[in-house]
Amino acid sequence: MADMKKLYIKTYGCQMNVYDSERMVEALGGQGYEEVDTPDQADMILLNTCHIREKAAEKVYSELGRFKTLKAENPDLKIGVAGCVAQAEGQEIIRRQPLVDLVVGPQSYHRLAEMEEIIRKGKRALDTDFPEEDKFEKLKARPKAKRGPTAFLTVQEGCDKFCAFCVVPYTRGAEVSRPVSQVLTEARDLVERGVREITLLGQNVNAYHGEGDGGAWSLAQLIWALNDVDGLERIRFTTSHPNDMTDDLIAAHGECEKLMPYLHLPVQSGSDKILKRMNRSHTAESYLRLIERFREARPDILISGDFIVGFPEETEADFNDTMSLIEEVKYGQAYSFKYSTRPGTPAAERALVDDQEATERLYRLQALIAQQQKDIQDAMVGQNVKVLFEKPGREPGQMVGKSAHLHAVHVTADGIELGDIKEIRIVESRRNSLAGTVI
Ligand code: 5AD
Ligand code: SF4
Repeated sequence: MADMKKLYIKTYGCQMNVYDSERMVEALGGQGYEEVDTPDQADMILLNTCHIREKAAEKVYSELGRFKTLKAENPDLKIGVAGCVAQAEGQEIIRRQPLVDLVVGPQSYHRLAEMEEIIRKGKRALDTDFPEEDKFEKLKARPKAKRGPTAFLTVQEGCDKFCAFCVVPYTRGAEVSRPVSQVLTEARDLVERGVREITLLGQNVNAYHGEGDGGAWSLAQLIWALNDVDGLERIRFTTSHPNDMTDDLIAAHGECEKLMPYLHLPVQSGSDKILKRMNRSHTAESYLRLIERFREARPDILISGDFIVGFPEETEADFNDTMSLIEEVKYGQAYSFKYSTRPGTPAAERALVDDQEATERLYRLQALIAQQQKDIQDAMVGQNVKVLFEKPGREPGQMVGKSAHLHAVHVTADGIELGDIKEIRIVESRRNSLAGTVI
């Protein structure tokens, strides 16, 4: 529509930020904005930032600096910073970067419409509170626009674990679960709009304890309720913490038809000494035992994880414990990072491991994971798998989808529509994907 104002939103970081950006687009839709793909013609630019990687705030400041010419050309252009850097830096962003009109933390997105009105009057607006009211309830604008076949749905937010390296408890705040009825309503609405697979999101998603019939529901209870939603075909969830794992969630992987055979369970380290210093409150052994129980419930489950190498005081022996744990688990996929300091976290005070040493360990770990990933992918060749098609591929006539195990699968064939679930014979294992043919 020609008279709509244009919103350019750039999303960094995790899937929860992707979800949040969608909610912000909806909230600003009510203020007459439509989303555009480039900042050039925008009336508002929003950076939805992530604070988890190194020098996150510095990167945001340099990104903001690049909008200077755009703002010079269009004095009505409004620039906002959202997400975890907004939460962590708050007032500092307003002080340091005069280009910025608006700073909004993750717990205040439901106030975005009001804040937009303030900045349109030429004032600046900052909100990084942790308010009492339910932002999800206030955010549910629910436009009926059609959606792609997969969607994220935030069910739990925040973290009370305080791992010694992590900023999340400070930027996302304390753990909160959304009520069951709210989640189910949003899920049904997504399905009506064409969604066939929902990934439930939370920083500690398996700590979910939302209000439902008869009291707080576990994540497994929620998944079972979603299993009954007609038209929804696949359920996933991420990210879990080993200490919040419940028997009913493990069992659901063996029994719940729509729950996919995939588990992202970060361990961070395989050394009990380092785990203790990370304040993880689980051991390598307790983690391995959990994985074993998941495999008893669902033998083909694909395991994914997160690792930090070079955490303060990590010795070669500690690192080798991590490598042994990886050997034992056999990961289908994993994210690994070299430890880096986050100001304000407990580990920030501690002496760093030699950087070259840490880099070298990271390479060794990534090589091992890559080999395991390849072995698991290669074993898929010759198998028939069900693929949910999500988008067109790069080659003409090619479609890309995901298997139940979350492998990307490329297929070139006529008659495949977005949102189709088809039985595919895997014929080739590539670097980060599989190729198949329709059976
Ligand atoms: N340094 C390196 N990696 C980190 N992560 C979180 N904080 C840090 C840090 N300070 C990693 C953890 C977490 C993932 C999302 O990011 O592995 O699980
Ligand atoms: Fe961060 Fe640990 Fe909480 Fe995960 S569990 S969000 S790593 S503090």
